[in-house]
Amino acid sequence: MTKKGQRMLGAMDRATNLWHIPNVGRAKGRVIRRLIDRHRPTRAVEIGSLLGYSAILIAGSLPAGGRLICIEANDYLAKFVKANVAEAGLASRVKVVVGDALRAIPLLPGRFDLVFIDARKEDYLDYLRQLEARLTADALVIADNTGVFRKDVAPYLEYVRDPAGPWDSREYDFGDDCMEVSVRKV
Ligand SMILES: C[S@@+](CC[C@H](N)C(=O)[O-])C[C@H]1O[C@@H](n2cnc3c(N)ncnc32)[C@H](O)[C@@H]1O
Repeated sequence: MTKKGQRMLGAMDRATNLWHIPNVGRAKGRVIRRLIDRHRPTRAVEIGSLLGYSAILIAGSLPAGGRLICIEANDYLAKFVKANVAEAGLASRVKVVVGDALRAIPLLPGRFDLVFIDARKEDYLDYLRQLEARLTADALVIADNTGVFRKDVAPYLEYVRDPAGPWDSREYDFGDDCMEVSVRKV
């Protein structure tokens, strides 16, 4: 993580204590960083970027040579993501794609070993199913807000938790919300 990125995340964490800003936040961010340290992914894709908090967190935590593609539907927000990632000194690691994820995913180049899902809750399963053929054998998929939006993400949870399916999945419970972390079965 760059020093500037760390300072920016800290400032956003302080703001989030006062304002309702739906970024992934500090507690879940700590778990994401630990997972990245353990799995060492190098080709990441994020679906839903808002202002760039999770983009800075993920891009700043990837090992050397790691790259992140962010898909953000809102053109105005995507400009902030680009500007904030650049401000954090991470522009060379991050590409921001503007558009609806369900249209953008099929056009992404290459394969991915980390996915962070944090856009339209009812579409979580569709995002994953669209990406699945292009995920590596050891891919890690993190889905945010699976506690707060439990009903909306129910089909997603049913799929990744199916013992006969291709994922080993577990829930991280943060009290006020949950995050689902799924690792591809080998
Ligand atoms: C909860 S916010 C993301 C927060 C961000 N991941 C973070 O932790 O800093 C959800 C974002 O998803 C975007 N979004 C919603 N539907 C989308 C879609 N279909 N495709 C891409 N982005 C979408 C919204 O514009 C919003 O910026």
